[in-house]
Amino acid sequence: MYKIVRTLLFFFPTESVHYFSMNVLKQLCKWSWSRKLIAWTCRPEEKEMQKSAVAEKQAIDQAQAVEAPKGSYLAREVFGLSFRNPVGLGAGFDKNALYLRELGALGFGFVEIGTVTPLAQSGNEQPRLFRLPEDQALINRMGFNNDGVKVVAERLKKWRQRTDNQKGGESLIIGGNIGKNKVTPNEDAWKDYEICFRELFDFVDYFVVNVSSPNTPGLRELQEKDALRKILTNLQGINRELAREKGIPSRPLLLKIAPDLSWQQIDDVVDLALEIRLDGLVATNTTIGREKLLSSADRLKSIGAGGLSGAPLKERSTEVVRYIHRKAWGSIPLIASGGIFTGEDALEKIQAGAALVQVWTGFIYEGPFITRGICAKL
Ligand SMILES: Cc1cc2nc3c(=O)[nH]c(=O)nc-3n(C[C@H](O)[C@H](O)[C@H](O)COP(=O)(O)O)c2cc1C
Repeated sequence: MYKIVRTLLFFFPTESVHYFSMNVLKQLCKWSWSRKLIAWTCRPEEKEMQKSAVAEKQAIDQAQAVEAPKGSYLAREVFGLSFRNPVGLGAGFDKNALYLRELGALGFGFVEIGTVTPLAQSGNEQPRLFRLPEDQALINRMGFNNDGVKVVAERLKKWRQRTDNQKGGESLIIGGNIGKNKVTPNEDAWKDYEICFRELFDFVDYFVVNVSSPNTPGLRELQEKDALRKILTNLQGINRELAREKGIPSRPLLLKIAPDLSWQQIDDVVDLALEIRLDGLVATNTTIGREKLLSSADRLKSIGAGGLSGAPLKERSTEVVRYIHRKAWGSIPLIASGGIFTGEDALEKIQAGAALVQVWTGFIYEGPFITRGICAKL
């Protein structure tokens, strides 16, 4: 059914379809009966949770430093947070925290909002998002288009108030993915991350520092060890200070890395993560590589620069997850992102050492039942 809808949607420009589809979903979720119906059809079901093979569960538990809490097979405890299932939506899909209720109804265990920057940005000129259907991939050069951290924080505050008032609350975990404005020079980047961190502290469950997007000039240079140390240790200090002030636990702080780093650079990231006791890593962001694609060279040339995501990224991102897991002896919780479409893809990442997985391009190609499909295989 989704394949037919997808064929129709793929006739239209990628970015417009994104907002159109999410706004249709938003309208449908306005009524509680239709929202419940959507949740009932899309959320991973109890029945499917129990179908999973015991052997797979054992393999997963052995592969990662994660404890599955009692009660639900899919639920898991990672960096001190309770996830109702391990399938999240990657950053960049709901940059402005506009669709949380709807994404919750679709069954995601967590949603990473952002990348958010201190000031609102319109991003790069359109078109800036392209499909490569032959490769089950996307290329984007969005450029951190977002409403700015204050507006997003206010939106999250209202969402929190609404869900806290609901019976039982909302178990959707929200990650805050933070970045720097395009106009901010790299020497001052740490200030942008601090502004975003402070503004979002009360409203997100965990943070991800994004220094790995290929679409903000110079950003990826911040993956160098000293630059990273400055940004991350500053945030850790603020984290402790705010947590003490408010009498609450500090927020897990993670770093998202590019798949294009060399092994030496990944070693540096892992060493730093262990040294400063970072709570986790997200591996990986999109790639600037264009290897092994079926799309024609002309098509790729006409699209131009941008980050490639989806199926062609799968192998490299799994390789990075496996490498980090082994290098850190499983002591750094990992969120795997890159080319996850099916339960088998997710399982591959989990067996490589990921504690949680995120989808993005897979959601575009597989549609609204993706979390249910993946969870059925876990
Ligand atoms: C259109 C688009 C926008 C994205 N925006 C962001 C972003 O703002 N911040 C970020 O950290 N990652 C961003 N990403 C990267 C995704 O979160 C994800 O890490 C990447 O696409 C790999 O996963 P996938 O192969 O499942 O798509 C974006 C990806 C796409 C396709």
